[in-house]
Amino acid sequence: MTEAGANLSPCFRTAVVPAAGMGTRFLPATKTVPKELLPVVDTPGIELVAGEAADSGAERLVIVTSPGKDGVVAHFVEDLVLESKLEAKGKFKLLEKVRKAPGLLEVDSVVQEEPLGLGHAVLQAERVLDDDETAIAVLLPDDLVLPRGVLDVMSRVRRKRGGSVLCAIDVPKDQVSAYGVFEVEEVPDAVNPNVLKVLSMVEKPAVEDAPSTFAAAGRYLLDRAIFDAIRRIEPGSGGELQLTDAIALLISEGHPVHVVVHRGSRHDLGNPGGYLRAAVDFALDSDEYGPSLREWLTERLGDSWAPQLTTYE
Ligand code: UTP
Repeated sequence: MTEAGANLSPCFRTAVVPAAGMGTRFLPATKTVPKELLPVVDTPGIELVAGEAADSGAERLVIVTSPGKDGVVAHFVEDLVLESKLEAKGKFKLLEKVRKAPGLLEVDSVVQEEPLGLGHAVLQAERVLDDDETAIAVLLPDDLVLPRGVLDVMSRVRRKRGGSVLCAIDVPKDQVSAYGVFEVEEVPDAVNPNVLKVLSMVEKPAVEDAPSTFAAAGRYLLDRAIFDAIRRIEPGSGGELQLTDAIALLISEGHPVHVVVHRGSRHDLGNPGGYLRAAVDFALDSDEYGPSLREWLTERLGDSWAPQLTTYE
């Protein structure tokens, strides 16, 4: 079996989506609207990520929410009143869009009472796993990794090499300080050159200290041993339990950790700048909005564009 081989069933059933953060970079919008529900054109980021999990063969989505963020889970529940209204009005295209999220996967939720870090959020999912689930996929809803498919490769790598498998993107050297960066070495018998062994991880290194330009993207295929590791790490700044620290602990104990370098594109929906790029990228690709947006952008970016000034005197 190879990492580049044909699709097999994944080695996980549950995809965990942590959505209990405060979304402070999106305030004031996130005062009342969860960041995960902000639309990329017309679809919330978390629905796009749930679609990726479903495509990869996951059977169940476990959403980690915080008190008061019920809307995130409600997005995945059927709304029969809305559906019947759309049906009565003959709005079948919209009906199809509205039915999509509830039909993707079985959805469960767990509550993280306080935002005590990504590691702590992942730990909350342990209580709803079945005893025979040896691994989970974790997908960050503010990371869009395109085109879909990296989880399939990650799954094949775990089947072949065991342990945990993470996703990396190759970032420009001058941007490494914004990411968790991997120290890696080649895997001598790897058929796929994008599969590398992880030796360590450094969180947001200075450019000169970065061990590589491979940065963590928000996809993790984690062995169940991660839960015990999260319980054994010390909280960092703000009392947060970092997933990175738990992975580092596993590596130090000899647990095999590999990365798959994703060579496609990626959008960070976690901050307004990245979110806008994603929205423009998706809109340009849409039949409905693409042509007129392209026309307007060309005009807006052209030399002859000037703001329309009106005076009300
Ligand atoms: P981020 O750090 O990007 O999200 O975490 P955040 O904390 O909401 O954002 P800012 O920094 O305040 O703007 C990545 C993912 O992990 C979740 C977030 O909801 C986000 O989807 N998360 C983070 C939790 O579920 N719990 C936490 O304690 C922290």
